[in-house]
This record gives sequence, C-alpha cells and structure tokens, in this order.
Amino acid sequence: MTPGARVQAAIEVLDQIASGEAAEKALIGWARRSRFAGSGDRAAVRDHVFQALRCWRSYACLGGGETGRARMIGALRASGVDPTTVFTGEGHAPAPLGAAEQDAGCVPTGADACDMPEWLLEQFRASLADKAEANAHALKQRAPVMLRVNRRKTDRSSAIALLAGEGIECAAHPVADMALIVTQGARRVARSAAYLEGHVELQDGSSQAAMDGVDLHGVTRVLDYCAGGGGKSLALAARSDARFYAHDADPARMQDLPERATRAGARICVLKTLPEPPESSYDIVLCDVPCSGSGTWRRTPEAKWRLTPERLADLTQLQSQILTTAARYVAPGGQLIYATCSVLTVENEARIEAFLSETPGWVRRKIHRFDVSEGGDGFFVAHLGRD
Ligand SMILES: C[S@@+](CC[C@H](N)C(=O)[O-])C[C@H]1O[C@@H](n2cnc3c(N)ncnc32)[C@H](O)[C@@H]1O
Repeated sequence: MTPGARVQAAIEVLDQIASGEAAEKALIGWARRSRFAGSGDRAAVRDHVFQALRCWRSYACLGGGETGRARMIGALRASGVDPTTVFTGEGHAPAPLGAAEQDAGCVPTGADACDMPEWLLEQFRASLADKAEANAHALKQRAPVMLRVNRRKTDRSSAIALLAGEGIECAAHPVADMALIVTQGARRVARSAAYLEGHVELQDGSSQAAMDGVDLHGVTRVLDYCAGGGGKSLALAARSDARFYAHDADPARMQDLPERATRAGARICVLKTLPEPPESSYDIVLCDVPCSGSGTWRRTPEAKWRLTPERLADLTQLQSQILTTAARYVAPGGQLIYATCSVLTVENEARIEAFLSETPGWVRRKIHRFDVSEGGDGFFVAHLGRD
C-alpha cells in the first residue's frame, strides 16, 4: 500500500470509531476486508489510528472537522507535512483537498490542545498542579516499549547483547535498575529467545521502579491480591525467594501466570480460593487495584475518551473496598502496598487518606507518584505499615 492508501484506510477506521465501534474491532474488520494489506501496512494503519485517538481533539481542530478525513488532515499538519502531498487521489490515496478544507482548521488551545475532555483536564489540574499540562501532552505521544531484565537470569548488559543478537536494539533506561528501552525491533520481542527463555519481560519502567521500592528484607510470604497477569509479582519475585501467592477476583485473568513464572524461574502459587485471616496472613499484601489507567493512556488512548465521572466514582469506591478487605490479610508488622497506574488524586492519595482515617492501626510509610512526563507510564504507589 502507498503511504496515501494507508492514510485512506485510517480515515475509514476512524470514521467507524467515531460512530461507536471499538478501535480494535474496527481495525480487525478493516484487516479482514483488506487481504491485500501486508503486516507492514497493518502496523502503519494501526499506528495512524492510535495516534489519532491520542490526539482526537487537537487533530480535529487542525483539520477543521470531526471526520476521519479531517483528523488525518490535522495529523499531517501536526507533524509538519503539507496534506496536499498525501491527499492526491492517486494509488488509493484520499481525494485532493477542496478549497474549504484547505482553509479550514485552527490551532488548538485549552482542553483541545491537551487532548482531554474538560472534566478530566480539571482532574489533572487538581491532581498535578503545574505538571498537569506536561502530563497531558506526554499522553499524546506513543509509549516506548520497555523491558525488565530478569535479574534471576542475567544482567542488563548481557541482556542488551542477547537481544542485539536477535535484531532487537535496546538501551538501559534510568527509570529503574533493570529497565531497558527498545529502540529497534520491538515487534520481534515476543518471539525472541531472550523473552521466551525468561531473560526479559515486557514491563513499563514506572511499574518496575515502583516494585523496586518495595522492601523485601525478612519477607517470607507475599500476597498479590489483584494479580491479573502477575507482572508486579514477577518483578518482586525476581528479587526475593519469598513465597508468592496470586489472587484475583477474576481468576481467568491469571491464566498465563504459571507459564510466565516458569519462564522467569519464579515460583508463584495461583490461589483458587483465599482462606480467611488469621489462617491466611502475609508479610506483604500488594493491591494493584483496577483504576482509570490515566497513566497509561498513551497505550490505551480510547480509554481517555470513554471514562466518565460516574465510572471514575465507581472505581474509587471499589479501590477503597479492596484496600479495606486486603488489609485484613496483612500480618502484624507487615506492609500493605497500594498501587494504581493513574495520576489522579481521587484514585491515589485520597484513597489512602480515607483508608487511614477509617482504619486504626495503620501508618503511611511512603508514597510516590511517577509522572508520565518522566518517561515511563504514570503510576502511584503507597506503602502502609501495620502496627
Ligand atoms: C490493574 S489490574 C492488575 C494488574 C496486575 N497486577 C499486573 O501487574 O499485571 C487489576 C486487577 O484487579 C482485579 N480485581 C478487580 N476487582 C477486584 C477485587 N474486588 N478483588 C480482587 N481483585 C480484583 C481485576 O480482575 C484485575 O485483574
């Protein structure tokens, strides 16, 4: 496909998304209808679509309209490309710009420039103060692919060399001790021997850094209360021989965890049921709770536009419930680690304050927020201690 034909394909997919279709579904539908498209074409169309989702409002302003066509005109203008050089009508490229399209478009300001609904921009400002705009702008960029080097199996420089031998270029990233940023060949990672043999795991740098901050000295039992795919447990298990237990309200989400743990050389017991305390108590209970994902919207930009104040309120209620329940599993003298991949105060500090004010016997040891503008995803972690 020519570059113009890829833009035309993105236009069609964006129009479907604007009429309510989920992005993944719209992309799969397009790929099925377009058997002529190779893997490079599919990747390019996907990149156009995801970038337009990240910049949904600013591209509409720059392109002068709410259609897929206008957004792709805006996308080209945003990257300094004259749209008339792509909208040629040749080789399945979009039709040339009409006079009205040539004159349409304006420079985005305010929430349009930040690519955020107004109510969310207010939440960002309340949470991040003078860093709100920088975080919002960072969410408009594509996220880097980051790896965690598994210290059980190798070190950073050996991992870099191993990956280079498979055509994957990486560099050490300062966000965490074992973090790598992939600079070339990211699509090969999941099929590489380095990955399949557990030398590296796909994990964002902020998550890694947050888990690096957990004190594992003298810890023998760890419960990952919201384990999901188990990424946080795996990061902790790389640093400790403690016994790890994984639990999730939706056990199906943990189905890949045994295989991932075997690959990593870690031992994580997946719990089907969680006995009531005190029968079951742990030195550390980790709650990586469901959240808005506001720190990860570079990867899931649709979520930024689908979140509503009602959904956010429901999430904060669930977060508090989980914190209260999970705290019961912490042994005396143990730690409760609360984490979200959100930068919003209502999901972070406010939940911790509510918990501490309602639950005697707990103290706040430390909290840390990782901003999106620091390079990794936005992330929050709070360490609470039980007397
Ligand atoms: C942010 S994800 C966890 C990601 C995971 N820790 C990782 O590193 O891959 C949140 C998880 O919490 C689970 N969850 C939702 N409600 C829960 C509840 N009431 N109790 C325990 N887990 C819950 C979800 O099923 C989901 O897998």
